[in-house]
Amino acid sequence: MDVKEMVIEVNELPDDYPNNKMIDKLTMHFLRPRNNGGEVLIVIYPTSNKGQAYVVFDSEGMILCIDVLFLYVYLSLTSYFMTNIYYSFFFFFLFNILVLRVLDHNHVLELDGQFYPLDVKKIHQPKTPAGMAELEGLEFGKSDFVLLDEVTMEQFMDNLKLRFEKGRIYTFIGEVVVSVNPYKHLDIYGKEVIEDYRGRELYENPPHLFAVADAAYKAMKRRAKDTCIVISGESGAGKTEASKYIMQYIAAITNPNQRAEVESVKNVLLKSNCVLEAFGNAKTNRNDNSSRFGKYMDINFNFNGDPTGGHINNYLLEKSRVVQQQDGERNFHSFYQVLRGGSDELLKSLYLQRDPAEYAYTSQGASVTLASNNDSLCHKAVMAALKVIGFTTEEISSIYKILSTILHLGNLQFTSDGEHVVLVGEDTVKHISELTSTEPENTRKALLYRTVATGGGEVIEKGHNEQEASYGRDAFAKALYERLFAWIVGRINSVIEVKDYNPALHGKNTVIGVLDIYGFEIFDNNSFEQFCINYCNEKLQQLFIELILRQEQDEYQREGITWQHIEYFNNQIIVDLVEQPHKGIISILDEACLTAGKVTDTVCLDSMNKKLGQHPHYTSRKLCPGDKTMEFNRDFRIRHYAGDVTYSVEGFLDKNKDPLFQDFKRLMYNSSDHVLKEMWPDGKMSITEVTKRPLTAATLFKNSIIALVDKLACKEPYYVRCIKPNEVKSPLLFDDGRCQHQVAYLGLLENVRVRRAGFAYRQPYARFLQRYKMTCEYTWPNHLMSTDQEAVEAIVNQHGFEDDVAYGHTKLFVRTPRTLFTLEQERAALIPILVLFLQKVWRGALARMRCRKIRAIYTIMAHYKCYKVKAHFWEVERRFANVRNMADYGKSVEWPTPPAALMQFHRITQHLHRRWWARQLIKNIPPSDMAEVRAKVAALSALSGERVDWGYSRAWERDYLANAKDSPLMSTTFVRITKELKNKDQYSQVLFSCSVRMLNWFNNTKDRALLITDKHIYRLEPKKHFKVQKRISLDTVVGVSVTSGSDQMVALHTASQDDFLVHLQRGQLNPNQDRVGELVGSLTDHFTRVKNTPLPVKVCSTAFQVHMSGKPKSITVETKPSQTAADFKKSRTGFTLLLPHQ
Ligand SMILES: Nc1ncnc2c1ncn2[C@@H]1O[C@H](COP(=O)(O)OP(=O)(O)OP(=O)(O)O)[C@@H](O)[C@H]1O
Ligand SMILES: [Mg+2]
Repeated sequence: MDVKEMVIEVNELPDDYPNNKMIDKLTMHFLRPRNNGGEVLIVIYPTSNKGQAYVVFDSEGMILCIDVLFLYVYLSLTSYFMTNIYYSFFFFFLFNILVLRVLDHNHVLELDGQFYPLDVKKIHQPKTPAGMAELEGLEFGKSDFVLLDEVTMEQFMDNLKLRFEKGRIYTFIGEVVVSVNPYKHLDIYGKEVIEDYRGRELYENPPHLFAVADAAYKAMKRRAKDTCIVISGESGAGKTEASKYIMQYIAAITNPNQRAEVESVKNVLLKSNCVLEAFGNAKTNRNDNSSRFGKYMDINFNFNGDPTGGHINNYLLEKSRVVQQQDGERNFHSFYQVLRGGSDELLKSLYLQRDPAEYAYTSQGASVTLASNNDSLCHKAVMAALKVIGFTTEEISSIYKILSTILHLGNLQFTSDGEHVVLVGEDTVKHISELTSTEPENTRKALLYRTVATGGGEVIEKGHNEQEASYGRDAFAKALYERLFAWIVGRINSVIEVKDYNPALHGKNTVIGVLDIYGFEIFDNNSFEQFCINYCNEKLQQLFIELILRQEQDEYQREGITWQHIEYFNNQIIVDLVEQPHKGIISILDEACLTAGKVTDTVCLDSMNKKLGQHPHYTSRKLCPGDKTMEFNRDFRIRHYAGDVTYSVEGFLDKNKDPLFQDFKRLMYNSSDHVLKEMWPDGKMSITEVTKRPLTAATLFKNSIIALVDKLACKEPYYVRCIKPNEVKSPLLFDDGRCQHQVAYLGLLENVRVRRAGFAYRQPYARFLQRYKMTCEYTWPNHLMSTDQEAVEAIVNQHGFEDDVAYGHTKLFVRTPRTLFTLEQERAALIPILVLFLQKVWRGALARMRCRKIRAIYTIMAHYKCYKVKAHFWEVERRFANVRNMADYGKSVEWPTPPAALMQFHRITQHLHRRWWARQLIKNIPPSDMAEVRAKVAALSALSGERVDWGYSRAWERDYLANAKDSPLMSTTFVRITKELKNKDQYSQVLFSCSVRMLNWFNNTKDRALLITDKHIYRLEPKKHFKVQKRISLDTVVGVSVTSGSDQMVALHTASQDDFLVHLQRGQLNPNQDRVGELVGSLTDHFTRVKNTPLPVKVCSTAFQVHMSGKPKSITVETKPSQTAADFKKSRTGFTLLLPHQ
């Protein structure tokens, strides 16, 4: 079939599709490829990246496969979760509504019935059957060795070489990354690259360390599994560099919230590399920055996936390097760094010269040049890193004092004065004792003597011979350095250890371990250290075989999966050669060390020859006399998985025993330098104390490596297999022989074979079902099939993955990660919906519970309200039950405070009571008094409390001029005259009459009489028999003005603007009492009741306005001491009523 493949890019989609403003670009994501008439179910959802999709057409233009690459699937729950998109997504997903059809080669995309142009970018080669994302193009070789046409060494090497030459240093074997040291800087570790790998699946990007790091991180985060990344390879293959890039990657992708405590943990983890490299690395002939210790670092993560701490385990520091190095090699970097980079003051305080050639321990390496290493700059970096990590100034000073002590120790010489051994250069001893804060005498003694406890508990001092003294000095220097290194590691651990971790609170604490341990080593002269290092590599290879090759194949067999067994070399036999009890090399060494008397290295070699002579991986000159590459009585050879290594047995026993005179330990323990003292706790022991023989160095190492392997074995392993392309550190040279050798011993070819034939993932049916059951309608929420296996088959079949899986007895085996990835994607998309569903149900339950509570509350409230209302009624009834018989008819009874609901009722009942109460009062007033009462009520409201004195307390007589008691002289005449007037003017009632003082036409004031009837107002002249001087109709009165004072002035305003301004004179009846109130009350009552028009009354405080003959006049009131009677006087603006002083 002619298959074409192209990259299409979605160019134009409606802005509002699918109804989300957040969308800047749309991405197509493949869900289920179905070859039904060229239709492919596609879900579109937004991403911040540009979407691209691969579409594979057949010759008829039918889509065979569509897939998405380069996509950054924007599934961040925070922003995404809240949008509507999931709803639409869910609908589309459920009902297959969203159909994308690439109609033909015109590159038109139909989406939901609309058409969009597609931009065809480039034509690719068909994809590989394995489905690996071949993103680099074939000119760079195959990015996964699994894709080799044939798995042969030749093809493997060709591919490796091609990729190396093209600058592609990483290649996958499934999940294993094979890395070739490029020996040059490559621009492939930057921020953008990190972003490319972040959160992606392994096969989505070209092979890279970041891809494994991400896979390990994801496995840890997704499945809460501890993982580890094992980096292996020989010295100089790039393990340490790889471990640093991996840690950088993990640091970069974690802690998106930039939480300070997490940032500081990350910082310490990163900075610790710099310090450990300074103290634990050295230049060897194979690597300028060779790790001379093994390092396994655990990084702890919280449930969020952020680093919360870590722990570093260090393994067997090659301490012999402190006192001796091979040609072309250097001591540990730290010595050269302090000498070349330390300030003058520092060096002076340490009594050091700047030149490393001055010191026996560094003189050999002084002339060795390092292309890549600038000691001076490194020193500054280390100092800075120490500070960042949290070393105190005192601790840093102690560290450098110890380094300088070691350098001075190296320069100590011993000679003999015939009888005793003596020290050459007392100054040096002084410096040493000062730097170690010990007594010079004690230091001298420790260097020259050793204290021995005799059998009887006696303690004697035994002098060293020259050789012993030199040996003791070197052992002391080595031990000082070793303990310093261990203390530094411990101190870093104390800073980064996870503190206050509460699993109940913080969730499961997961770990990613990174192992960077010394690689397999073959030197010209291989000693005890190489033996240990190579044994360690055997163990790690064994772990690799166990996990990747053996267990894998065993499992296929156990599960009944058809499987072609793949042969591989199992190095267990070599591991046994070294570590087997009684028979192994370590056992023989230990035995020799335990044997009393002088057992030499040669005797030990003999013993090995005897016991191991038959072992296929062991030989020596004695066993193979013809082999001149080995020396008699000195060399033995182990055929390691990585090659033959000839070890010189010289020094083996000594290094294994690792003796150090107790005197040094005690000396250091008694130092007043706290840091130093802390490093030597065993110096506390008394000399006479009998102790158990300490374990030998080899056994200690063996135990630590077994513990390490156990630790790794319980984690999910990820491998980086490093290869060294050449011996000369050249970026150009690919040494076929060297590389092929490494590929062979690393078992990479077997790895490819197992991988090719095998399955990437397996899961017990129940677990698989549990995880993916929501992706299939038959299994969600629970299946009705007889076994979990059947249910799993339903899921697999629904997705069309039948060809990519195998069914074991208890587990499902999945061949390609892509399948699992697709399921993961679906699951990830569905989980939020399920969460929403659960939330919906739970929220509903919560709401119903709340509703029930609220209803209950309302019922209680209703009953309570009812009770309150009733209680109010009862209380009102109780209080007012007897008011009829009370003197004040209940006016003094206090009303109870009503509940809010009865406020209106309260107002109405109060009003009713008040009316009833008034009625009771009025009822008792005799009809003859009613007119007066009404007038008083009218006055009360008309004056509205503004006039202080208004005469309400006296009887209102009204017609004072007719009253003989009030006006005894005039009443008779007045009564007669008014009779006439009554007849004439037909009035029925006199409203008010009294003598007044008022203004006449000429503005003179005169005494006159005022008569107000229900028809008219009269001005009468009393002196002329009450002759009517003026009469106006009462209808023309439009208002009354009075003052608020006690004066008796009243203005009656008329419509004709010819107002009456009078001052009421009081007669004999009530000479000092007010009559204004009576006049106002009588008038207003009449107007309101009879005329039915209210009469406005104005109460002014000082002055009021009147009109006289149409002219406005202002009337004021003044008190004048000389005034005898009240009278009007003309003023500038009108008139002033002058009142006599009271
Ligand atoms: N990815 C890389 N990019 C550039 N240079 C590298 C890379 N990896 C390794 N190198 C170079 O190779 C040198 C040796 O690498 P590294 O120190 O990591 O080796 P190693 O495997 O740790 O060796 P040893 O077992 O001796 O510690 C580095 O100093 C560096 O110069
Ligand atoms: Mg290293």
